Amino acid sequence: MADLGVFEAIHTARALRRFKPDPVPPEIITRVLEAAICAPSGGNVQDWYFVVVTDPEQRKRAGAAYAKASLSVRPFYENRPRPEHMTEAEERHLRSSGFYLHEHMADAPVLLLVCGRRRGPRPDITNLGANALARMAVATACASIYPAVQNVILACRALGLGTVLTTNHILCEQEVKDALGIPDDIDTYALMPIGYPVGKFGPVRRKPLAAVALHNRWGSAWPSA
Ligand SMILES: Cc1cc2nc3c(=O)[nH]c(=O)nc-3n(C[C@H](O)[C@H](O)[C@H](O)COP(=O)(O)O)c2cc1C
Repeated sequence: MADLGVFEAIHTARALRRFKPDPVPPEIITRVLEAAICAPSGGNVQDWYFVVVTDPEQRKRAGAAYAKASLSVRPFYENRPRPEHMTEAEERHLRSSGFYLHEHMADAPVLLLVCGRRRGPRPDITNLGANALARMAVATACASIYPAVQNVILACRALGLGTVLTTNHILCEQEVKDALGIPDDIDTYALMPIGYPVGKFGPVRRKPLAAVALHNRWGSAWPSA
């Protein structure tokens, strides 16, 4: 496969939730993981772990926890008003594709559970207030893992693999951790099904840049958007 430009990968790496049963060669998964660990992390701690689940029984266990957790979010998607920037067709697609995955997570030939070691509090900076400290803790924990997840998404795209970042499983996180033997001090951040996609890649459609890009201060539009 010819190498894909980085902008083409970014613009076409849409969420894919239906996969062919064909296995993904281990060396291809290794390339994805090598891309993941190029990501930045706070203080360069790299306290991340990538659990590649290919065993059908283990996939079933993780998939069952995802299905159970997804039952709780389903009413939200069934009842939420359609976001203004989405067409009816896009909202319909998000629901049907998302609901499909609720029942079919285990069908993907690879499940990637992206984890991070929980870090203790930073008492050295508590003089700035508990609220600031709590905000900082959540932000740095997430921001030390999700760049690696985005690298997984882009590497998959470049290698012709589909995937999607999912977090529903966190509602039943302990069940996933028990199924895969994840230690207590390890948190899970994303459960990503990976496989050769049934559907097509991109292009992704987003709100226009003009709606979200600002210049110098809130309320002042970025002029060239
Ligand atoms: C924080 C986060 C959590 C997500 N959780 C789920 C999830 O649990 N299940 C799922 O099917 N998709 C999940 N998604 C995928 C989003 O639905 C998807 O990225 C979004 O609809 C854009 O899709 P598109 O790139 O195809 O336009 C999540 C995405 C993010 C960023």
